[in-house]
Amino acid sequence: MEPRLEVVLAKYQGARQEALIPLLQNVQEELGYVSEEAIFAISETLGVPDAEVFGALTFYAQFRLTPGGRHSIKICRGTACHVRGAQSIISSVEDELKLVAPQDTTDDGMFTVEKIACFGACSLAPVMVSDGDTHGRMTPVKARRILRRVQEGDDA
Ligand code: FES
Repeated sequence: MEPRLEVVLAKYQGARQEALIPLLQNVQEELGYVSEEAIFAISETLGVPDAEVFGALTFYAQFRLTPGGRHSIKICRGTACHVRGAQSIISSVEDELKLVAPQDTTDDGMFTVEKIACFGACSLAPVMVSDGDTHGRMTPVKARRILRRVQEGDDA
């Protein structure tokens, strides 16, 4: 078993069904996603059917079933950002990275793009967060520039 998964599961020995969501969150924090191996191991640890673990995973949008890219791009599509052009930012990012929905991670594993309900920074709308750095008053041109800078940083 993946050692990081083993460490997380050890903390939940004796726990029951109520611990399912916190455990899933913990696994995702550690691995970046919830693997197939983790689903079966969680089912066994908590004594809940694996279908129930899978059901919780697919119900909550926060969980990933596949590994994310090395770089994280989050784009707000909340109301304030929406009215200030969030969709054009999303389209330009997806076009630049050649992503076709529902694909959210580039084929080379470099970027994962997520759409977020609101960052709580509405006065900066439209907002995009690149590897944890918040960029406000985005435009499609600025978004493409940020992506290229990240790519160049990796190539350097
Ligand atoms: S709506 Fe985009 S940051 Fe709040």
